[in-house]
Amino acid sequence: MNRLQNKTALITGGNSGIGFATAKEFLEQGATVIITGRNQGYLQEAKQALQGKVHTILSDTGNLDDIHKLAKQVQQITPRLDVVFINAGIGKFAPIEAVTEAHYDEQFNINVKGAYFTIQELLPLVNDGGSIILNTSINAHMGMANTSVYAATKAALLTLARTLSTELLPRRIRVNAISPGPVTTEILKKTGLTTEQVNGFKESLANQVPLGRLGDPSEIAKVATFFASDDSSFVIGAELIADGGMITL
Ligand SMILES: NC(=O)c1ccc[n+]([C@@H]2O[C@H](COP(=O)([O-])OP(=O)(O)OC[C@H]3O[C@@H](n4cnc5c(N)ncnc54)[C@H](OP(=O)(O)O)[C@@H]3O)[C@@H](O)[C@H]2O)c1
Repeated sequence: MNRLQNKTALITGGNSGIGFATAKEFLEQGATVIITGRNQGYLQEAKQALQGKVHTILSDTGNLDDIHKLAKQVQQITPRLDVVFINAGIGKFAPIEAVTEAHYDEQFNINVKGAYFTIQELLPLVNDGGSIILNTSINAHMGMANTSVYAATKAALLTLARTLSTELLPRRIRVNAISPGPVTTEILKKTGLTTEQVNGFKESLANQVPLGRLGDPSEIAKVATFFASDDSSFVIGAELIADGGMITL
């Protein structure tokens, strides 16, 4: 239970889903944990659900002005970070004929630009030997219809695990990626689909997973814990696919 003892971690988009489950797991493993989110109310709810143990920072990953304030906000809590989990992300689905500039920009702003500049902003605070974890998606490897923009954002993140690992070798900061398959979180409800459509989509996804079910956020949190901990000290620029076999089998 102490795999992250004496480590300090920041998780973007930590008030919900995979980010929240990871905050819970990191706390249980002994880490000091900061979560960011774009909604103060949701951050407070998450803090309450974690018995007040987590630190929160209001910061919109889609807004560069917010990102440029992030290091100073972190320093009000802790001088250094050992782990950064780039998790905040959105998914919107549409056929190419219906994709608008707004649809494209929103996803690239949050999922790629926000991720990239969050890493740049926080790097001076990350201890040498630290761990940066990117939450991508199996969509980066698939030809799933209507996901052209979302999948492209996740493919962009995947390349960062390798390029940044090389650039950060002198500091021994390891950058790795987790690619989840379908996981039960709030993300689909935020796509604009109706509850009926969301339920239908979830059922069809579960049918495509050899394990016969969607993943639980806690199962991705455990993968994040592996990358965050010294257990993965020889793992660098890697991708771990956690998808119940959806693309691995
Ligand atoms: N669930 C899946 O099946 C699945 C599969 C593969 C990959 N992923 C990836 O996993 C990550 C987490 O998603 P999730 O499934 O856990 O969904 P979620 O429950 O919606 O969590 C996403 C988190 O990111 C936050 N967020 C979104 N945009 C933000 C912004 N501009 N600034 C700050 N925070 C922002 C959300 O805040 P709000 O609560 O305010 O929206 C929320 O806390 C995403 O990157 C997603 O692409 C998910």
